[in-house]
Amino acid sequence: MPDTETSREPLPILLLNGPNLNTLGVRQPEVYGSATLADVVDLAERTASELGFGLRAAQTNHEGEMIDLIHDARKQISGIVINPAGWTHTSVALADALVVPEVPIMEVHISNVHKREAFRHHSYVSPVAAGIIVGYGIRGYEFAIRRLAELVG
Ligand code: DQA
Repeated sequence: MPDTETSREPLPILLLNGPNLNTLGVRQPEVYGSATLADVVDLAERTASELGFGLRAAQTNHEGEMIDLIHDARKQISGIVINPAGWTHTSVALADALVVPEVPIMEVHISNVHKREAFRHHSYVSPVAAGIIVGYGIRGYEFAIRRLAELVG
């Protein structure tokens, strides 16, 4: 008889993208590159699937909606990969929400925020993140999923 505990599929990884990331490929391509959000989701899906995980992906420009998505994910997911975009530098509420699911969180930034304006150097999310990937372009999402799989594996 199969052992249901060990043969159970892992819960999916939740990929979250914050405000303005729906415009990837159009907004400041010299900073964020030419790949689109669809490319990011595709890369994340392929990486998660290679590692035996499903992927749920969402992008929103509305902070309350992002917080609801995170609350609703409690007990539904293995971990979170999030690019909080502008909310990184402003949102205590987002950082508070991210601890609700009690799963590892990987914070991703496409650009090297530390090479940019001073207001981008501080992150409210980093203290609740298991790891941070900054400045690797969209490959950062792939690295974050690989690290998450290691952490929850
Ligand atoms: C970003 C960096 C943030 O400072 C910025 O507000 C973004 C994108 C990045 O991926 O490099 O929207 O998170």
